[in-house]
Amino acid sequence: MSSDRLKKAREYERVFGEEISWEERPLFHVTPTGGGLNDPNGFSLYKGEIHLFYQYHPYGTQWGPMHWGHLKSRDFIRWERLPAALAPEREYDRNGCFFGSAVELPDGRHPLMYTGVSGEKEGCARQTQCIALGDGLNYQSFSGNPVLTGENLPEGGSAEDFRDPKIWWDEEEKRFFAVAVNRTSDTSGAVLLFGSGDGMRWEYLATVDRCRNEYGKMWECPDMFELDGMELLLVSPMEMQAKGLEFHSGNEVIGLMGRYEKETYSFRREKVVPVDLGLDFYAPQTLLMPDGRRIMIAWMQSWESSRFCPEGAKWFGMLTIPRELRIIDGRLIQTPVRELEAYRIHPVIYREQKISGASESGKREGRIRFPGIEGRILDMTVRIRLEKGCRRFTVYFAEDARYYTALTYWPGENILHLDRTWSGLRYNIVNQRKLRVREKNGELKLRFILDRFSAEIFVNDGEQALSACLYTPGKARGISFEADGCAVIDIEKYEIRVS
Ligand code: FRU
Repeated sequence: MSSDRLKKAREYERVFGEEISWEERPLFHVTPTGGGLNDPNGFSLYKGEIHLFYQYHPYGTQWGPMHWGHLKSRDFIRWERLPAALAPEREYDRNGCFFGSAVELPDGRHPLMYTGVSGEKEGCARQTQCIALGDGLNYQSFSGNPVLTGENLPEGGSAEDFRDPKIWWDEEEKRFFAVAVNRTSDTSGAVLLFGSGDGMRWEYLATVDRCRNEYGKMWECPDMFELDGMELLLVSPMEMQAKGLEFHSGNEVIGLMGRYEKETYSFRREKVVPVDLGLDFYAPQTLLMPDGRRIMIAWMQSWESSRFCPEGAKWFGMLTIPRELRIIDGRLIQTPVRELEAYRIHPVIYREQKISGASESGKREGRIRFPGIEGRILDMTVRIRLEKGCRRFTVYFAEDARYYTALTYWPGENILHLDRTWSGLRYNIVNQRKLRVREKNGELKLRFILDRFSAEIFVNDGEQALSACLYTPGKARGISFEADGCAVIDIEKYEIRVS
């Protein structure tokens, strides 16, 4: 195995990355320097800066041997690209450097804890947990690697499905902890907890929660933390089966909310909530900021549609906007990081606008437009108050004579329906999602974050979130509104500029 794989990836990034103009990328969402990206990794604070790594295949937009790309930021919006941090080049990670995380050590080092994949045949993987120690730019593998192997698993645990460590430092206990996922003997996933005094030597402590074939099969990408007095365990199950409108099928992300007893490492699950109800969201990871904010970022892509890269694309895969998490009245609340507000310019505000007179569906005449309300890179909040008898209200965006994506509210059934069928995609993938929403104080509030190739929508100040990739041509900039009946709306729209 060549030890030059990192060098090669860095060189490729340097040359290839420059070939991609800034107009070909989103403005403030993370994309790979080149190639194909999946999960966010190593989201951590190091020497006062926010570091973010990502799983990626440098040489192609399809999934391939996983490397770690690297960026840093001071505010989650403006990112500086750094050279790739990890390449699969050691015996224990020869097939890939999979998902992992990072912390800052008191002695100033920045360890990355990740899954090394090895094994002779495809499908005969051995997954172990490894450490690479670095200084924010260069990372060296730890001589004691791997630090966790199949030997550390409780009985029945599979050494082929043992991955995705999320590490943290517990100030009270003066100890490192990490959660990782494992397939158990019932063929579904579990979250295991490990402990370490120095971050290098680890022991198994407990099984925090397990799937028992109830929420999908194997679980991936765990994260676990205290939030507003509760414990939140995030996991990304594979092979979920749809349940009502809360959970869709396939890979998705769920939040297990409950109570955690530190002394006994026991977690009592109280409720399971969906995390993002859109079309593209997976493998989130969080970071705790010094001001107490818990920030989550995720891969803005569904695994199932990740094979379908737009024709001619030089990069593929984006991360979501980092989101502040809260639990309020038992609900998981997500809002775009407040740092985004510093980049908002040109406010366009309308109040108390009457919308009525929808024409037959599919016809554009009934759609109402407002001067200054358009664009593909923006932050826009629409507050909707329906008058009695209003049957439907729709916001169209990324719209022109040929394309649009629609978000429709059906008050009779309390349903919000996202539909990107006519957004210009050429594949038969899932393009619609329905969710149940509620009005608050007589209105529904929708915040749209658009950034060239995506839409993230936050309902009622983040009670629900929906993410979707949109590969609609950039000239489709229109936004319009339509009501079957009568609605009164307020609009507050800003462009985002990151210069
Ligand atoms: C989740 C995942 C992880 C794994 C990585 C590989 O999307 O499957 O479990 O570590 O991606 O790229």
